[in-house]
Amino acid sequence: MTTSSHNESVARKMLLRFEGVLNKIFGNDLNPFYCLGALGFFFFWVVAVSGAYIYAFYKTGIQLSYPSVEYLTHEQWYLGGIMRSLHRYASDALVVVMVLHLLREFILGRYTGARWFAWFTGVPLIWLIFASGTNGYMMVWDMLAQYSTVAAMEWLDWLPIFGEPMSQSFVTQEVLNDRFFTLISFAHVTIPLIIVFLLWVHIMRISYPVVNPRRGLALGMLLALLVLALIKPALSQGPADMGIEPRNIGIDWFYLFIFPLLDTWSAGHVWALVMGITLLISVLPWLPSRNKQIPIAEVSLKDCSGCRRCVADCPYEAVVMRPRSDGMQFPEEAVVVPDRCVSCGICVGACPSSTPYRSDAEYVSGIEMPSMTMAGLRAAMTGDLARLEGDARVMVFGCDNAADVERLRSAGVAVMSLPCTAMLPPSFIEYALYEHQIDGVFITGCRENDCYHRLGGLWTAQRLNREREPRLRGRVERKHERVRLFWASAADIKELAMELELFRSGLRSLNERDNAAKEILKRE
Ligand code: HEM
Ligand code: SF4
Ligand code: SF4
Repeated sequence: MTTSSHNESVARKMLLRFEGVLNKIFGNDLNPFYCLGALGFFFFWVVAVSGAYIYAFYKTGIQLSYPSVEYLTHEQWYLGGIMRSLHRYASDALVVVMVLHLLREFILGRYTGARWFAWFTGVPLIWLIFASGTNGYMMVWDMLAQYSTVAAMEWLDWLPIFGEPMSQSFVTQEVLNDRFFTLISFAHVTIPLIIVFLLWVHIMRISYPVVNPRRGLALGMLLALLVLALIKPALSQGPADMGIEPRNIGIDWFYLFIFPLLDTWSAGHVWALVMGITLLISVLPWLPSRNKQIPIAEVSLKDCSGCRRCVADCPYEAVVMRPRSDGMQFPEEAVVVPDRCVSCGICVGACPSSTPYRSDAEYVSGIEMPSMTMAGLRAAMTGDLARLEGDARVMVFGCDNAADVERLRSAGVAVMSLPCTAMLPPSFIEYALYEHQIDGVFITGCRENDCYHRLGGLWTAQRLNREREPRLRGRVERKHERVRLFWASAADIKELAMELELFRSGLRSLNERDNAAKEILKRE
């Protein structure tokens, strides 16, 4: 049983292969691609802390700014200079991880449906981060600052919002005064504050967001920045002089790439390009995509005891509790917030009433996916198990977003693909093993630390390890050798098939052992 077609795009396959290589180098825990958003936060904090230090020594004014930055760079190189370099390189790294994060969410399709919110709120972050970086380069008031300021003013002048052209009235040697520096220093504090606010909004609809990379990764990144700061300290490029046009200056291509473009294209064309890209990115979640969303979760009040497990497990803050409305003795009831639900089914796997041991043929769980009811899943599984033959009969539970388990189906293997592995209530494992006497249960889903639905892999592992409700029950633990958990992305189908075969040959040995033990008991 499958709910949606697997996303098999070439870009996705290439990304998964590349991440597989990173997993081999760093391990799944430290793979930087699995926490690009958290790395964004990390670099932002490095920028903020180093920036606060530099700001303490920074002097505002046409004659003061450049010497104050020079003092930090040369006279106080051991701290001020390092802080300046950290500030610059962490800002560059922030752009890199932001762009990779955006591309990755796009390639993996984690931006459509109810997930539009994080995507859409990410768009102004791009603008603000670029604005803040460009603004930072102006603060130094060297030749690069002069070039950037004039280019930015000329670009802004194209917009019909300023009465007189800023490039003439504002940025000339005569008129350029301390007000300009007050403005850019004020902006260099205000924009990051707005960024912090927007970052908070960005992750507002995400439960347990990962905002800190693992310590090993954070330390590694910090070390890399420090080494870079020592090998190639950030330097100024000679004081600005409005009487001379700056030549042969080095550009920071991470932030200032737009300005060289202005040398060849007209301001209007560059505006059209950036506004076009912004608009396209903004509307992407609403353009037709291959990710088809099935109907969202529905609560069945008469079957809900208000236990809150669905609230605890939903990765998208899409279930809330409210006072009981039907007069039952429980104080609360669960409610699904429709525009936040991504139809992952994780809440169904969390609900205690999802158990297949319910006696009624058409039982209803406290929370259900209307297109994949628990009674329907039980019936599908029962039918599939009944046709199994051979000496190593296995039930495979998989995920629509990981390796396509349908490809594993055979005479001895029954499969069921779910919107997320964590939709599976652990009681289904027990049910398959004991009520249907099959030889083993094999569970798979997205690679470790890379669950398409963020937390499904973690919740599944914790439930099976009995660290989280609903836990795998006692008698299954004794039979744990008949339950196998193996994570495999769409790029790992070969490894998955091999692991399944290994598991099945292990089951055959177990069966022989059990049969031999039974024979001995019979003889006795
Ligand atoms: C430097 C800026 C950014 C930072 C620091 C950042 C950080 C984060 C973090 C920490 C998460 C939560 C990750 C998790 O725990 O699953 C996240 C999710 C996300 N971000 Fe960003 N982000 C930034 C920019 C962007 C941009 C520019 C976009 C795209 C326009 C974007 C799109 C998304 C999406 C789609 C999600 C995932 C939502 C989901 O899984 O449903 N982010 N971001
Ligand atoms: S299906 Fe359930 S767990 Fe998934 S987003 Fe909707 S309410 Fe949350
Ligand atoms: S997990 Fe089930 S019983 Fe518990 S609050 Fe949610 S819907 Fe109700």
